[in-house]
Amino acid sequence: MSINWFPGHMAKARRQIEENLSKVDVVIEILDARIPMSSQNPMMNEIVKNKPRIVILNKSDLADQNMTNQWMNYFKSIGTYPIALDARSNNVLKRIEPVAMEATEEMFQRMEARGINRRPIRAMIIGIPNVGKSTLINSLAKRKAARTGNTPGLTKSQQWIKAGNNLELLDTPGVLWPKFEGDVGLKLSLTGAITDRVVHLDEVAIFGMKFLIEHDKETFDTFYKITNYDVDDIVSVFDAIGRSRGMLMSGNEVDYEQVTNRVVYDIRNGKIGRYTFDEVNDDN
Ligand code: G4P
Repeated sequence: MSINWFPGHMAKARRQIEENLSKVDVVIEILDARIPMSSQNPMMNEIVKNKPRIVILNKSDLADQNMTNQWMNYFKSIGTYPIALDARSNNVLKRIEPVAMEATEEMFQRMEARGINRRPIRAMIIGIPNVGKSTLINSLAKRKAARTGNTPGLTKSQQWIKAGNNLELLDTPGVLWPKFEGDVGLKLSLTGAITDRVVHLDEVAIFGMKFLIEHDKETFDTFYKITNYDVDDIVSVFDAIGRSRGMLMSGNEVDYEQVTNRVVYDIRNGKIGRYTFDEVNDDN
């Protein structure tokens, strides 16, 4: 991930986003529905302040539906406007437009009371790398390619792009850095938000295996066709998968690297099932 972690870069990215915020009526914050807390920038509340905020729980096609409903309720309860979405689908404008209108209605009524005519709603998309910002811009603007740049902040030349009749978007999304504490890095990697260089992939695979064994063991066992392993001995899980899938090296040894890559790939891409790794709890 081409993110710079230096405080100076973060401050600059934040400043650029704050400057652009003054030009918009509503913020569209994109989170990964599988990790709504871990994919949020830790300073989001401070940065967005009192602007109405639409929270897109994106990649909801890969997340646990029941947990997504819980997260929807949570985001409603804190006064934001959540939408569970697959940014690649072709109905995103229909889903977002009415919510953007609802979120800005009060502001436009105040403007009208002062004699100012209605105009299209101006919005800005913000999120950490890989949550689907460009995909959403493309879908909203019904075009093929949006400029992608995963460096936090924004590029200099900004343009408004039209999304339907009522919405205008800044063409370059604001890119923020994720937080990086506790097991957040593991979750970010497991969902593909960060590349494999930043964390040790074997730790990510172990985290994923343990999660599945704890939450959905039957599906996990069936998917890899494994039975004989010790839940408390993670090496035995690698061995079971390696032998079941024929991921072996010379001498009939299990190729742990191959198992690691496979498990991370399968979880990341929803091959085993739909999972949400962040739970709604009192700490949110
Ligand atoms: P970014 O601008 O925030 O960095 O993210 P971007 O749109 O580039 O999306 C990152 C990856 O996530 C892309 O996959 C994209 O197709 C995928 N994606 C975006 N939204 C959704 C969604 O709602 N559901 C699912 N399942 N995937 C989504 P990629 O493999 O990196 O690229 P591509 O080969 O799909 O183009």
